[in-house]
Amino acid sequence: MTSWLPSAIALLLVLLTSGAAPEPQAANVTGSMTGSITVDLASPGAAIPPTLYGIFFEEINHAGDGGLYAELVRNRGFEDSRLPPACVLDNGFLVPPRTPHFDTGKPNTWRLRWDVTNPYPSWTLETTGGSDARIALSVEHPLHAQTPHSLEINASTVGAGGRVAVLNEGYWGIATTSGAEYRLAFFARHDGTFHGPLTAAIESADGTPLATQTFDGAGFAPNQWRRFEATLRASGTDPKARLALTLGSTGRLWLDMVSLFPAKTFKDRPNGLRPDLAQMIADMKPGFIRAPGGCFAEGITVESRPQWKQTLGPIETRRGTYSPWGYWSTDGFGYHEFLQFAEDIGADALYVVNVGVSCSFRSGTFLPDDQLPALIQDTLDAIEYAVGPPASTWGRVRATAGHPAPFPLKYIEIGNEQQGARYGERVAKFAQAIRAKYPEIKIALSSWIAGIDRRAIDAAAGTIDIVDEHAYKPIHWGVEHFDSFAGYPRPGWDLYIGEFATNAGVGRGNWIAALNDAAYMMSVEKNTDLVKMASYAPLLENVNHRDWPVNMIHFDSSRVFGRATYYVSKLFAEHLPTVALKTDVDLTPAAPAPIAGAVGVGTWNTAAEFTDIRVERDGQVVHQADFTQGARGWSPVTGRGQGSRGVWSAAEGAYRQSQNVVGFSYLGGVSAANATITLRARKISGAEGFLVLAGTADGRRVQWNVAGWSNTQSAIQTNDAIMGGAVRHRVETGRWYDLKLEVRDRTVRGYVDGQLINEATLPRVDTVLAIAGRDDKTGEVVIKAINTAARPASMTINLQNVRHHSTTGRVIVMSSPSPDDENSFEDPKRIVPVERALPGIAPTFTHELPPYSLSILRLGARRQ
Ligand code: AHR
Repeated sequence: MTSWLPSAIALLLVLLTSGAAPEPQAANVTGSMTGSITVDLASPGAAIPPTLYGIFFEEINHAGDGGLYAELVRNRGFEDSRLPPACVLDNGFLVPPRTPHFDTGKPNTWRLRWDVTNPYPSWTLETTGGSDARIALSVEHPLHAQTPHSLEINASTVGAGGRVAVLNEGYWGIATTSGAEYRLAFFARHDGTFHGPLTAAIESADGTPLATQTFDGAGFAPNQWRRFEATLRASGTDPKARLALTLGSTGRLWLDMVSLFPAKTFKDRPNGLRPDLAQMIADMKPGFIRAPGGCFAEGITVESRPQWKQTLGPIETRRGTYSPWGYWSTDGFGYHEFLQFAEDIGADALYVVNVGVSCSFRSGTFLPDDQLPALIQDTLDAIEYAVGPPASTWGRVRATAGHPAPFPLKYIEIGNEQQGARYGERVAKFAQAIRAKYPEIKIALSSWIAGIDRRAIDAAAGTIDIVDEHAYKPIHWGVEHFDSFAGYPRPGWDLYIGEFATNAGVGRGNWIAALNDAAYMMSVEKNTDLVKMASYAPLLENVNHRDWPVNMIHFDSSRVFGRATYYVSKLFAEHLPTVALKTDVDLTPAAPAPIAGAVGVGTWNTAAEFTDIRVERDGQVVHQADFTQGARGWSPVTGRGQGSRGVWSAAEGAYRQSQNVVGFSYLGGVSAANATITLRARKISGAEGFLVLAGTADGRRVQWNVAGWSNTQSAIQTNDAIMGGAVRHRVETGRWYDLKLEVRDRTVRGYVDGQLINEATLPRVDTVLAIAGRDDKTGEVVIKAINTAARPASMTINLQNVRHHSTTGRVIVMSSPSPDDENSFEDPKRIVPVERALPGIAPTFTHELPPYSLSILRLGARRQ
């Protein structure tokens, strides 16, 4: 890991590399919690903007190409093996210019693995039945200078009954539905040797034709690009179909911009969007949409930044943008399509422009200051394209593209996750120019990845309307930091949480992640005097290509499901009150359950042995292991779960796990509660050090990971989440270490050779949090409450200062028995909202919040 990565990203990366994932554990709690939620109708707080929640779209995880953008052919323009601008290839890595970083001033050291080995990715040549042909990438006679490559097919023999065909696999399959229509278009030229015909077919994965169209040889012209198009109707369904273009004669033929779209796109837009994904997004009723990034807006080099003017017009004129997430975007979902989508879903558009600096976490290369005026003019042009009159230069281009009316562009964000005074000074220059010409446009500064970067904000002071903070947080953070915004200054700009997610220690985004996201949104919603906008990130994940660990909506070529947090976000947008109301929660018991459950030892991709294991409590020895007599009482974890691959035996007086794998073994009947565990441990081979296991807390495994993360650091963990911080630490193979782990209530301390190296107190995570607001459209009080405990919470709801109320209301509940539960393709509606009527409403009534639940209560109640 490189040292300049900020801690949030660093934490995320180490979590990923340690490969840890939550291990489901039954929560061992009984009885219910009791408490009260008191809402004072006479104490209104801040107004809540109706556009508080929006979405953030970025080309990551194939969110656009191979996702929302409905194009079915991958690498349609044969441009995907190009190196990104300004990069060179060095030993299998893309390397940006080694120029000083914009913020640190030091030459960057970042590089990106380049695993493109095929000159025409996603395309293959098929020759059968005695046919012979070759294909090659060509730059002869480009179709367009922006997309110079084409595919040359040189067929020397077409065998009788055989074929010469080029096949495109799409984005992990071309989803084809029986009866549906598909629009095919491509360009072709030949050198006089090809006589046709050419047959285009959608074929199932086994080669069965599902739809075909033959183009007669007469349509082709020597040495001239010609455009061909057809509508194909599929006779069968296959999510993994392919496109085949078959030559009916020998000769040399060039193909370019081979495109296949479903005839049905979202709102029937040409060059449009996949309806199921677009509808999922529209259903969230986003108040705004931020795009195109994220890191994408910055590029891996400043030369590879997105340039909106190059994303307009016919697709063969769009050069594409290299996504920092490691693949080319066609820019098919370009600036115009983004604005159109915003309009189609009723959202305001927030466009992120490049500040003349590439992604700070990658290269931080930048344009010199003398190029800023051109960049600023480019931004003014972008605004004019969106909202300028049709008579203006760029308004005319928009009108010619079929949209004379202005688009709903409301915000411009200048840069993404940059920091420092130098960045703030650039923002100020952009902002002054934008403000002078478009005073109605709100201007945002992007403030680093976590927290607020004062240096940038101070340098841009007085010119910006909005500061965009990003908040990627580990498990339980949202619950533990429910009041985090209280400590923020109220400085004269609005806060926008442009990217937030609970994304570490939560698998691929389980129910406890969604509950923590709910807690975070609740803290946003009760601080709308400061926080005016928020958007979850990332939005979309093609499950065949995951760039980021936790994403909101998962899909493949034909299916889609929303993770629980999708439904949470949708509910929050649907139940947005007009004004916040003062809300207090009291809860009994006040203290959370202590750490309890079996003591154990384990390894992570490592072979190790343990001896002299002793467990003491209150000064008494409760267990002293003796491995000279076998390993009685020890139970290795078996089956298919986490920690189940170890091979354990008692050998030479020690307890040995002899494979370089993940293995856990527990000591039955010996609890870690308030225990002191001492032992000696020695690494035999493998990647890391040792695990000392100390029961569970809140249904999660408590462990001390000694020299984990590829033997680089040690930390206390609950499942894979680090508690109390990690310290740099490594162990040597073959050396014995004295380990001691103290467990006291919810505090854990780890000592190596007598030195305290890790300490963590596990925060309370089983609790009830609530907020409330007044919905002036319906005259209702809206209470949002989460119960993050494994037991129900019986709550007295007190509505103070109520004059009129209905006796029935309704409640919308999301809950699931385990915090580790997730929606999936197989069970997409496992965790979804369920609504029911709520009888017996009075100014004071009792309501039970189920275990692990979000409840939204809507109660007809007014002050007057
Ligand atoms: O959402 C994924 C990435 O997280 C975004 O590109 C970037 O802004 C942030 O670091």
